[in-house]
Amino acid sequence: MRRKKSVITSRRGHVSHPPRRHKPLLGAGAPGIHPRPTGARPSVGPAARPPSSDRPQAPLPDVPAPTASSVDLSVDLAPGRPSALVLANPILVAAGTFGYGVEYAEIIDVEALGAICSKGTTLKARSGNPPPRMVETPAGLLNSIGLHNPGVDAVLERYADVWADWQVPVIVNVAGDAVEDYVGVVRRVDGVPGIAAVELNISCPNVGRGGLQFALDAAAAEEVTAAVRRSTDLPLIVKLSPAAQDVRAIAVGIERGGADAISAVNTLPALAVDRENRRPLLGNTYGGLSGPALKPIALRIVYEVAQAVKIPIIGIGGVTSLADVLEYLLAGASAVEVGTAVFADPGLPIRLIQELGGYCGQRGLGSHRELVGAALPRGRRERPSTKGAEYRA
Ligand SMILES: Cc1cc2nc3c(=O)[nH]c(=O)nc-3n(C[C@H](O)[C@H](O)[C@H](O)COP(=O)(O)O)c2cc1C
Repeated sequence: MRRKKSVITSRRGHVSHPPRRHKPLLGAGAPGIHPRPTGARPSVGPAARPPSSDRPQAPLPDVPAPTASSVDLSVDLAPGRPSALVLANPILVAAGTFGYGVEYAEIIDVEALGAICSKGTTLKARSGNPPPRMVETPAGLLNSIGLHNPGVDAVLERYADVWADWQVPVIVNVAGDAVEDYVGVVRRVDGVPGIAAVELNISCPNVGRGGLQFALDAAAAEEVTAAVRRSTDLPLIVKLSPAAQDVRAIAVGIERGGADAISAVNTLPALAVDRENRRPLLGNTYGGLSGPALKPIALRIVYEVAQAVKIPIIGIGGVTSLADVLEYLLAGASAVEVGTAVFADPGLPIRLIQELGGYCGQRGLGSHRELVGAALPRGRRERPSTKGAEYRA
């Protein structure tokens, strides 16, 4: 079958920046609500304020110059794979927050994105969790969608032809309850035109191991990664959970299993309580926390994992600004995914691409890649940081 090539696109036009204004995180683009044209930045709560520390950070220019044409924003997320996964830029949209891409195609230039991660896809259709499924929290969002999706065959039937016509790589996000589920989905998408890579959501209960999440157990994470690796030559990304006690061990298992890249992180299990009804607010009791509240945790995980593995890392969690993108790159991420913030501000990822190019141009950087890992301890491969999971106040 015809396979879509990794293409480097270049769309670096001028962008106008709307004024900053506060808006709830759960905006028009939330699942079930039609996204509306790009506008103001989302409300990001306290986490978005300049960090108050003993050493204040220099403020970033509010409106960086348009991307300098000499800046190369491309990035290869599967450098070890013959097919590679070369993106035009390091700004992706996160699984479950951008539908299948087609929902946004009329309001933003989706083909200018680095890549699109599809909604979580399972072997069979799933109706998801009972409502309510989402609630906003200070600087965050709790969701318990429960992998509502029509199943892999329907996803391919509805969207693969559209994806094949796009230049932007589409990464299918895959979920399951057993190793065979992941392998089954990946076998179906393997070789289908329009699919550039797969991202495994391993934050699912592993029925084979009594409900323990694959993402919390290094052996299980390695096992599912290796099984999928044997089933496809597609670039393979595996997504970490922030709930793991020591993510480095999980990341090493994933790398050993043959993944080309690691994405970090998924949502963090959390709870909201309905005071009036005196019970958990979400229909599924627990939800996953995303948004700016998650960012410092995700940043710590990227920083730790970058010292434990050699494969590229994609930072995810609370990206709402150029400052967030830069911090993830400096902590060791080669790219970032934008998730919750897209609900309120669908144009954000495109602006970030241009702002990152502008920043690099202003600083005389030939590529954002020069920033990757710059905040890591020197000699990181030899002397990994021991802080993090062992952190003591
Ligand atoms: C409504 C919603 C649905 C999500 N669905 C998925 C999913 O299907 N698969 C997955 O791997 N992650 C899913 N995620 C997690 C996001 O991809 C991302 O890892 C997380 O939200 C953190 O990024 P953010 O803070 O930028 O949103 C979902 C997140 C939200 C808010």
